[in-house]
Amino acid sequence: MLKDQFNRIFGTNASVEVVSPGRINVIGEHTDYNEGFVLPAAIDKHGHVAVSKRNDDIISLFAVEFNEKFETSIQEIRPIEGKWTNYILGVADQLIKRNYKIGGFNLIVSGDVPVGAGLSSSAAIECAVCYALDQLFELKISKFDIAKISQLAEHTFPGVQCGIMDQFASVFGRKDHALKLDCRSLQYEEVPLILEGYHIVLLNTNVKHSLASTAYNERRQQCSEGVRMIRAHVRDVLSLRDVTVSMLDKFVTDPVIYKRCRFVVEENERVHKAVEQMKAGNISGLGELMFRSHDGLQKEYEVSCHELDWLVDAVRDNPIVAGARMMGGGFGGCTINIIREGKIDDLLSILSENYERVMGKKLTHYLAETADGTHRLDGPSTLS
Ligand code: GLA
Repeated sequence: MLKDQFNRIFGTNASVEVVSPGRINVIGEHTDYNEGFVLPAAIDKHGHVAVSKRNDDIISLFAVEFNEKFETSIQEIRPIEGKWTNYILGVADQLIKRNYKIGGFNLIVSGDVPVGAGLSSSAAIECAVCYALDQLFELKISKFDIAKISQLAEHTFPGVQCGIMDQFASVFGRKDHALKLDCRSLQYEEVPLILEGYHIVLLNTNVKHSLASTAYNERRQQCSEGVRMIRAHVRDVLSLRDVTVSMLDKFVTDPVIYKRCRFVVEENERVHKAVEQMKAGNISGLGELMFRSHDGLQKEYEVSCHELDWLVDAVRDNPIVAGARMMGGGFGGCTINIIREGKIDDLLSILSENYERVMGKKLTHYLAETADGTHRLDGPSTLS
């Protein structure tokens, strides 16, 4: 269907059609840019693009959801604050900077990853664009580089200094699995995400705080500051990944920097423990770690918000809910909940009613189904 729309808009056939998924993150928040550990999984909501080559230097884009066309030339690519084109042109810009040979192209973009929900709609689009251009111009980019180029696109055009988690999960995701990713070495383990008798349910606050990207970049700086304080005494500490609580106790004197760093150190430990619990089939043990993760994000890292806290507190003592926490960068978006099958609908209707009454906003929910990573919908489908 996207190919039909492509045809109508550009008057020619698309040669490559790609989808790339959004992601959830079971646990391991704000650890990726500290070279720590994360546990994301790709979900069956996707960024979707179709492309064809042109004979000139024009990049012609069409966004289905905005019903808007945008044209520029390869020589004139630049970021435009707040505009959807950044997720596409940022990737093209990175390819050019790395001397990949691309010419003008037509591209249509669509997607069903909810925007602003903390499900990485932006990474899904970036990775889809990167792989589509790779296929169109036969660039032979590795999977790792597709993730890294897409991450750099996010840094330079939308301007969020994100870690590698979202793009990595989008490219490498595998159905029925979470990825335990070491964000330093980029080695990863596929951990079966089979929660016998439970479902992963995402509850969307429908809040998107505008300070999110500013605060995100500020948290990154605070973590670097903590590392700098410790490095003055312990030379082989390169990131918070290498830090222990006793190092924090000794060398980090600033109370705000201390609590930010302490959260990250403890969150890394929780990722290892969560994987152990998952492998042992201990869902309540996993859930307990998720609640603790939320508490740290709320009180120490301070990236939660009233609506997210309300949703987590609303299910905290409910025996059918194993665990819940805010997910992603924070200040809005979704909570991730592990809820026992059978009674989910009852719980959702009570929660929705109360949330709407207290917050004056709608609560939306999604049952998270895992999915495979970036792939073509047409022709050869393996990303090597
Ligand atoms: C956003 C970023 C990720 C990660 C999370 C927090 O989703 O894009 O790189 O840092 O926030 O864990």
